[in-house]
Amino acid sequence: MIAAMDISMTKIERSKLQDLNLDNLPFGKYFTDHMLEADFENGEWKNIEIKPYQPLLLSPSTAALHYGQAIFEGIKAYKDREGNAFIFRPRDNFMRFNISAERMQMPVVPEELFMEGMFQLVALDRNWIPSKEDHSLYIRPFMFSSDELIGVRPSDNYKFMIILSPSGPYYSAPMRIYVEEQYVRAVPGGVGYAKAAGNYGAAMYATAEAKKKGYDQVLWMDAFEHKYVQECGTMNVFFIIGNTAITPGLEQGTILGGVTRQSVITLLQEMGLKVEERQLSIDEITAAYKAGELKEVFGTGTAATISPIKELGYKDFSMKFDVDSWKTAPTIKKWLTDIREGRAEDKHSWMQKV
Ligand code: COI
Repeated sequence: MIAAMDISMTKIERSKLQDLNLDNLPFGKYFTDHMLEADFENGEWKNIEIKPYQPLLLSPSTAALHYGQAIFEGIKAYKDREGNAFIFRPRDNFMRFNISAERMQMPVVPEELFMEGMFQLVALDRNWIPSKEDHSLYIRPFMFSSDELIGVRPSDNYKFMIILSPSGPYYSAPMRIYVEEQYVRAVPGGVGYAKAAGNYGAAMYATAEAKKKGYDQVLWMDAFEHKYVQECGTMNVFFIIGNTAITPGLEQGTILGGVTRQSVITLLQEMGLKVEERQLSIDEITAAYKAGELKEVFGTGTAATISPIKELGYKDFSMKFDVDSWKTAPTIKKWLTDIREGRAEDKHSWMQKV
């Protein structure tokens, strides 16, 4: 049980919700009426407040803007048929948040602040949870260093916040992915496993280059041999070869330990598929494709949900897939959506009622 938190609450006077159509939303563009804000000062969390969504006033010397001590999470809230609100596996994201915090030399956010703050905020803005399929309320907790000092050192002060964005799908169509051989995302000993803001900024150049070639995202490979696949854009990645689902393992610390990834592994196993978390080389992938054994390739993530990959471009070789004939990814996607929206049994207690 989480200890009660002293969260002060100031509510908006007029909701912005009436100006928005919740049925046709882009990802991450609109924000709800309220946000949570808390400050870490003199070694403790204080000023914990839920208040109207509003701009921050920051000094130009705010440390995070210069050295990137900033981390975040992505979580989703859904509504069931009766209109009850649920959050998907929030504790898993909470735990990952503090793993990222430790790696980035930032303070731990206590469970009651993260969890109770999120539940109170979602409860207050619950009317913003869309009911349309593939839509949800995206929850974005984040923390950044807030010292007003441009010396390179960990801050003494930090801000922890949660904002909410009613959102449609992040990727709405099957994707074309470029297997990246030149640029790298993560190395063993680096911060690849942390949800550090800079990991996303650092990926943008290579992604833009891939887009110029007509692709949507890149599939990253290991930094030494450019041989073993890691993760894809904003998603973990799964390959179905024969009757086995293979996803890169987490042991090198170069891949984000996705909550959706873990959920998909569980559901694939329940479907009777063998799942292997291991190193997977691009040579094994192309050989399986040539032998007709590479059946499906898809990405998983909170924002991405389960996104089919219709083409993988590696050097001048293109692997194309008939996404419409697939069985596994659509089954898993429907099953996960049904669990989230209360139409399928939630055997693992993934949904936490708000
Ligand atoms: C998520 O899947 O929640 C992400 O954080 C990916 C992206 C929107 C940055």
